[in-house]
Amino acid sequence: MTWSPDSWRSKPAKHIPEDYPDPAALAAVETELKSYPPLVFAGEARSLKARLADVSRGEAFLLQGGDCAESFKEFHPDNIRDTFRVLLQMAVALTFGASMPVVKVGRIAGQFGKPRSSPVETRDGVTLPSYRGDNINAMDFTPEARIPDPQRLLRGYGQSAATLNLIRALAKGGYADLRNVHRWMLDFVGGAPQAEKYEVLADKISEAMAFMDACGITAGSSKAMSEVEFYTSHEGLLLGFEQAMTRKDSTSGDWYDTSAHMIWIGDRTRQPDGAHVEFCRGIRNPIGIKCGPTLEPDDLMELLDILSPDNEAGRIVLISRFGANKVGEGLPRLLRRVQAEGRNVVWSSDPMHGNTTTTETGYKTRGFDNILSEVMQFFEVCRAEGAYPGGVHFEMTGQDVTECVGGGQAITAEDLSSRYHTHCDPRLNATQALELAFILADTMHKDRRATN
Ligand code: PEP
Ligand code: CO
Repeated sequence: MTWSPDSWRSKPAKHIPEDYPDPAALAAVETELKSYPPLVFAGEARSLKARLADVSRGEAFLLQGGDCAESFKEFHPDNIRDTFRVLLQMAVALTFGASMPVVKVGRIAGQFGKPRSSPVETRDGVTLPSYRGDNINAMDFTPEARIPDPQRLLRGYGQSAATLNLIRALAKGGYADLRNVHRWMLDFVGGAPQAEKYEVLADKISEAMAFMDACGITAGSSKAMSEVEFYTSHEGLLLGFEQAMTRKDSTSGDWYDTSAHMIWIGDRTRQPDGAHVEFCRGIRNPIGIKCGPTLEPDDLMELLDILSPDNEAGRIVLISRFGANKVGEGLPRLLRRVQAEGRNVVWSSDPMHGNTTTTETGYKTRGFDNILSEVMQFFEVCRAEGAYPGGVHFEMTGQDVTECVGGGQAITAEDLSSRYHTHCDPRLNATQALELAFILADTMHKDRRATN
């Protein structure tokens, strides 16, 4: 079974659009992309793998988060900075609470393609093809907007490159320096329930840094204090694009998908004999697998055999996404089997995708309490099975949107229309995301004290 960047093309592929009006134009765009610079380097993907190997051993924690779908419309430096900033704030809270390194991975700089539950959308008796993400078609409800346009892939590449450029500057250029921990304060967090908690945490960190300074360990001299490692990820859905970005690493001779450090396989495209698994089998990046209610333990073992035949630590992140009412029943079966077979994996919880509901007024939403309940159950199930709860995966934004109900701001179903901006699924806003991070940090702090 030889693998090549295009061997997925002979396998059944779900959720990849086939209705491009001009397939030759699509092929031309893919050829052009092949000559573009890589967005990330193989060595960076290897560093992430090493960090995830730490997570798989219980020595670090994974924080993965960002938009459900990035969009051309919301492309703005403030949005990128705000998402980056709230992830930093969450990471600080978690690092402090858990007393361990937090591996930061954004759903950013490439998260443009969406699998949809229905290929069509009907509004007021009119049926059109569904919106499938900004690198395929547009969200407006018109027949023209919904036609797949290959030029969008080039724009997606450009936006990813510019986004990543800003992220690299923010991560390494001084903004992420821990001495700025007070300045990361979000404007609207002032007055919100999280504001005070964050201030207290920031004070503690500043004190600890002043103490280290006094001891002669200056933050300025330590990269660990003045810079952060920040990685990118997206769902590896549009394999034509991913193939074009896949390059042979000159150092190792291995293939890497250079569109992001980490790629995940969605819950709808994880068929062991399907195109997405075939593609991911041959690239050496860390790979996420979404694990939902329909995944049987035998199927999971088959996926691990295919995707991680040498059981390399850091290669696989299993992202549990059952829903608050199903995780207690569904997750233990998978966990037990993986534990029994001694597979090296990171277990992470996506408490978003199993908890989506629709309001009477037609808004897709998620309840903060259900999200929290699923993560808490994930921690409990892992503990009960002797596995390490290694991370979380959130759909979130640095903006003050009203998309998920509940949380300290007590957003109601009636509030949703006020600032509902998502291009796909409802995201936690910055305050809700930080609130969750504080609760998780407390839990991890208690866990740590219990085991020490
Ligand atoms: C997603 O992460 O946006 C997604 C579609 O998730 P899942 O594959 O778990 O449904
Ligand atoms: Co989503």
